[in-house]
Amino acid sequence: MSKNFENVELSFRERLQKISNVKELEEIKVQFLGKKGELAQFMKQLKELSNEKKAEIGKSVNRLKELFQEKIEHRREELKQGEYEHRMQQEWIDITTDPFHTEPGSLHPVTVVQQKLEDAFMAMGFQVLDGPHIETEYYNFEALNIAEHHPARDMQDTFYFEDGHLLRTHTSPIQIRGMERLKPPLRIVGPGKVFRCERTDASHDSCFHQFEGMMIDRDISVAHLIYFMKTMLGEVFDSEVEVRLRPGYFPFVEPGFELDMRCLLCQGAGCKFCKRVGWIELIGCGMVHPNVLRSGNIDPLVYSGFAFGIGIDRLAMMKYDITDIRPLHGGNLNFTRCFTVL
Ligand code: DAH
Repeated sequence: MSKNFENVELSFRERLQKISNVKELEEIKVQFLGKKGELAQFMKQLKELSNEKKAEIGKSVNRLKELFQEKIEHRREELKQGEYEHRMQQEWIDITTDPFHTEPGSLHPVTVVQQKLEDAFMAMGFQVLDGPHIETEYYNFEALNIAEHHPARDMQDTFYFEDGHLLRTHTSPIQIRGMERLKPPLRIVGPGKVFRCERTDASHDSCFHQFEGMMIDRDISVAHLIYFMKTMLGEVFDSEVEVRLRPGYFPFVEPGFELDMRCLLCQGAGCKFCKRVGWIELIGCGMVHPNVLRSGNIDPLVYSGFAFGIGIDRLAMMKYDITDIRPLHGGNLNFTRCFTVL
């Protein structure tokens, strides 16, 4: 008889192992614990046995009954869990998305300023051009009158590719591409990302944004340059601004200038923001160098022009009173939302 118990237990365990769903589990339950099941068979045989034997067999049957019940319930839980996981994979939905409380998006401060600049210049007859981030040395340096061993290249160190291409260090290559495509007279602006091998700090980042401009026609002078720069800054800051020119060196303009704006915070009295000088250095600009006009197939004896480049991030920082450039590019929406109009 004890041999039989062992066999029954063994076959129960084997069958239980193999099943894969609750239906099969129910079948096993009937086969082993049902009225006509394996354990019931043992109970039938009890009648013919002595009292002593009856007690012994009864005990074993009860032990198996409890064991089977426990194993069956345990397996049932396992199957349920497996089914649940399977359904989770099949019927996956993202319950974190709340369709009823979506917030409207907002524009990044740099985008807001860039769009203001584009609008201002388009209203004055300028075309907005784009240019590639990955440039050739020719467009980024040579065509802009920066020869191969010119020290000006040091100030604009960048990331070079093995095939000689580089990440553009300024938006000025857009000038050359614009002159190649369009015949003078021309008025173009070119916004975009630029890249430098910079050490990052509160006012420097390895990627930032510039806004380039160029106007070429007959008899263009510094007076035109000043007019357009004042108009541009007035649009960005929604008020009239005072500007001054200082000599500045850029190989692609002659004469070249740094254009400063009267500090809007202290009205020129001197504050922390303008480093106590009352003026803020903002724009590199000047009259387009004859060599640059020639790079664009334009005759410098017939045409002249001005060009300028301005940091959009810097303008956005001034407009929204942001003292560190890094969060501007950090992707933290809580930060950018604070400064942005919809
Ligand atoms: N490309 C210059 C820079 O990144 C800025 C600049 C200066 C642009 C003078 C111009 C210019 O077009 O005329 O520092």
